[in-house]
Amino acid sequence: MSKDFGGRRMARRAFLTSIGRAAGTSAMLRTMSAIGLGASSATLAACGSSAAGAATPGNPGPGPQPAPPSPHPGDWPANIGVGKSVIVLGAGIAGMTTTLEMRRLGYECTLLEAAATAGGRTRTIRAGDAVSETDSHQVCTFDVDDELYFNPGPARIPHHHEFLLGYCREFDIALEAFVNDNRAGLLHSPQAFDGQAQVARHVIADTRGNIARLLALSLNQNALDQELSPTDKANILAMLRDFGDLDSSYDYTGTTRAGFPGQKATGSRRRGELVEPLDLQTLIGDAFWQARQDYPQELDQQPVMLQPVGGMDRIARAFELRVSSELRFEAVVTEIRKTPTGVRVHYNHLGTPSTLEADYCVCTIPATVLRGISNDFSAAHAAAVNGFEYASAGKLAFQSRRFWEQDHNIYGGISWTTQEITQLWYPSNAFGRQNGIMLGTYTFGGTEGDTFTHRSPQERIDAARTQAAALHVNVGNEVDRGISVAWAKIPLQLGAWGMSDPGILLTPDDSIFFAGEHLSILQSWQEGAILSAYHAIDAIVMQDSA
Ligand code: ALA
Repeated sequence: MSKDFGGRRMARRAFLTSIGRAAGTSAMLRTMSAIGLGASSATLAACGSSAAGAATPGNPGPGPQPAPPSPHPGDWPANIGVGKSVIVLGAGIAGMTTTLEMRRLGYECTLLEAAATAGGRTRTIRAGDAVSETDSHQVCTFDVDDELYFNPGPARIPHHHEFLLGYCREFDIALEAFVNDNRAGLLHSPQAFDGQAQVARHVIADTRGNIARLLALSLNQNALDQELSPTDKANILAMLRDFGDLDSSYDYTGTTRAGFPGQKATGSRRRGELVEPLDLQTLIGDAFWQARQDYPQELDQQPVMLQPVGGMDRIARAFELRVSSELRFEAVVTEIRKTPTGVRVHYNHLGTPSTLEADYCVCTIPATVLRGISNDFSAAHAAAVNGFEYASAGKLAFQSRRFWEQDHNIYGGISWTTQEITQLWYPSNAFGRQNGIMLGTYTFGGTEGDTFTHRSPQERIDAARTQAAALHVNVGNEVDRGISVAWAKIPLQLGAWGMSDPGILLTPDDSIFFAGEHLSILQSWQEGAILSAYHAIDAIVMQDSA
């Protein structure tokens, strides 16, 4: 096996050495695997991880070898793509990343996008923007103002989504803090506390206090003596006092951490008075109270995250600028065919039927849309595309006086409810201004997402006003100009994010490769779209290197 680099034929060993020298050990490992030397092909099957998810390097010791790190730019030999062509389908983050990075490797790229703008679900809605769903049409009536915008798709970036953040750095996209968790936010269930929303800090402080008290009680009744040395026991008891703010008898009778009476409204002067502890049985009474406060413990949901200043579409626009010479807008793909040497794509470009042939196709079209396009996919690939499940998530935004800041001292973050609207998001931009954009609904899918999706835009607004009033009594008099996006009804997306196992779609179907957030270990994230693009590029590079 040898590879022709610009006329020089290289022996396999020399080729591997050159990859190792030029691109590092991980690229060499992957190349070895791809050409059947050493590493297990299973290590190629996991599509991408940021360093935060990767195996720790070092001596692996006995047992399974750690997977090599995910592929990324820098792994691939310079100019490996010279003389080769690729058609990339879909100008979302995955398609634009693929195009940008493959062009940098010398591939001749064409990027076909059915819409008139790039970015896919990375979108920001401002005054005058239209939202067309399969059965409705809305126009955004927010005031014209750079700070009044709504990110209906991606809206927050974890600190370890390093490739996305790397592009933000490279493209000079200004970032600011996104407040994801705010203890001044509210937790609400109609079934608990007489339907009264509770301030998150109160719920969290009392839950910690009670858990600490109960564990201290068991330790002091010697229940864990077989697990713990006397020193461990003493140390944990000391730790529990701090964890739950227990008194010297390891009892929990309330804490200043829980806040003060009247803290849900501005103007309270009762600081210093302890708020009455919440009833333990209610605090642990159902899944909502058991788990909701743990949301910011998730790896991808830190208390403080990042967002582009001015809207998430700053990222889409920056990519778009860099792939503009490869990008054809309003190119609606109608057929994806295999040829003896590669692929042929049929598409309607501004209504005119066209065809394009290339050595490779990287298809980032969401599976929900792809299944409606004629193709030559293998039976297994077609079945995976046809059966791929997506979340029916959706969001609704209102313009409003910043009553959450002015009346409730809430600056950014989320309030949660068991009602269909699921979440209220308070904006992290432009603190202190008069008006802002508040999310009045963010469903992740499931029953709530389906209900939201089936409602008309006006019904969503009505439901959001009514339900939000359980958290903020006067919200109905404050919020206005509601606009919503139910991703399952957005024609070129037909779903919010992929939920099925990527399975066979991680492997090429002859010269057709698949990418998109749905095929990554970070489904629903822009970083996942980028990692999946790197995975597809890597597979092509490996093929061209073999
Ligand atoms: N990644 C999506 C979010 O953060 C699910 O809301």
